[in-house]
Amino acid sequence: TKTFNILVLPGDGIGPEVMAEAIKVLKVFETPERKFELRQELIGGCSIDAYGKSVTEEVKQAALDSDAVLFAAVGGPKWDNQRRGLDGPEGGLLQIRKAMDIYANLRPCCSTSPSASVAKEFSPFKHEVIEGVDFVVVRENCGGAYFGRKVEEETYAMDEWGYSEAEIQRVTRLSAEVALRHNPPWPVISLDKANVLASSRLWRRVVDKTMAAEYPQVKLVHQLADSASLILATNPRSLNGVILADNTFGDMISDQAGSIVGTLGVLPSASLNGLPGDKTMKTRPYGLYEPTHGSAPTIAGQNIANPVAMILCVALMLRYSLNMEDEAQRVEDAVRKVLDSGIRTPDLGV
Ligand code: NAD
Ligand code: IPM
Ligand code: MN
Repeated sequence: TKTFNILVLPGDGIGPEVMAEAIKVLKVFETPERKFELRQELIGGCSIDAYGKSVTEEVKQAALDSDAVLFAAVGGPKWDNQRRGLDGPEGGLLQIRKAMDIYANLRPCCSTSPSASVAKEFSPFKHEVIEGVDFVVVRENCGGAYFGRKVEEETYAMDEWGYSEAEIQRVTRLSAEVALRHNPPWPVISLDKANVLASSRLWRRVVDKTMAAEYPQVKLVHQLADSASLILATNPRSLNGVILADNTFGDMISDQAGSIVGTLGVLPSASLNGLPGDKTMKTRPYGLYEPTHGSAPTIAGQNIANPVAMILCVALMLRYSLNMEDEAQRVEDAVRKVLDSGIRTPDLGV
């Protein structure tokens, strides 16, 4: 019997509600030959309440010992005055990303994917604008403004927004590898503010150099991040491809992607330290699967949260961490069927 060890981190708000549904889906694939050993732990606000910190060393170690991590959401008004650096509820997620060194966060958004089979009805966009939209954001996940030095005083605050060449190189490579998994290869569209930020100028230089030297067959486009936001809202199809972005710009553009399908409740993501088969990986493969949405405190506890993003995270986990592509597709097909059948949560207009 093959046993996969999965660390389950439901977190706060709607986290436990959507996680419970995702686990049901995962269990469908248990057979006498294949078991999922689930270890559930606290993270975020509930961990602060229980242990005084947003994530314990034990939980970080459990993540490193697992075959994959399922994470739902953290944060909420209860802990709003406890946000200090990496110690607030959201810091639990940041610490675990850093501990696993999962430097690339893949956030797919496609107007014909299972998650978006309802986009036709619920997108605020005209159908002809979003028809054929198909991109994946590859967000740098372990550096930049999120992890630089911080000063937090009464009347002054500072976040250091820095990148090293090596940090940019590895996420650029991964984005190009994602592009090459499509036939013909997708373009890589790199976002930055090279007209203003020093870190962006290094970003652009390193992306250029890496792509030219190692991936000449992949088309590379540089797009200023602010103008990319506008394009996403006016002609999103022209961003079809791999959207490569640093931690901050990637966070923002991937939330904006939720507007294409009409809700964040259907967008999953995968945080990885390499793609399956990646020979440059220095440690064993790690994957943490997290919806793009947060803990949605205003709808928590009512059992109305959309579990689709979390369920599609299970599909991504089956695909990227457990080498179960057929099963991943079965999850995606099932989600499409359910949404097409009209079964919906209120964020989709019920
Ligand atoms: P949010 O993503 O929680 O909510 C944004 C909007 O989307 C809200 O209208 C919410 O009701 C809706 N929404 C989100 N997920 C949904 C779902 N599954 N089904 C139906 N509707 C859904 O973002 P926010 O309100 O800005 O943040 C709330 C808290 O979550 C904050 O504490 C924030 O820091 C945290 N947060 C956590 C994560 C994470 O854990 N990965 C991500 C984003 C925000
Ligand atoms: C996300 C969230 C997180 C981020 C927060 C909760 C730390 O917004 O996963 O997109 O900013 O990375
Ligand atoms: Mn975000």
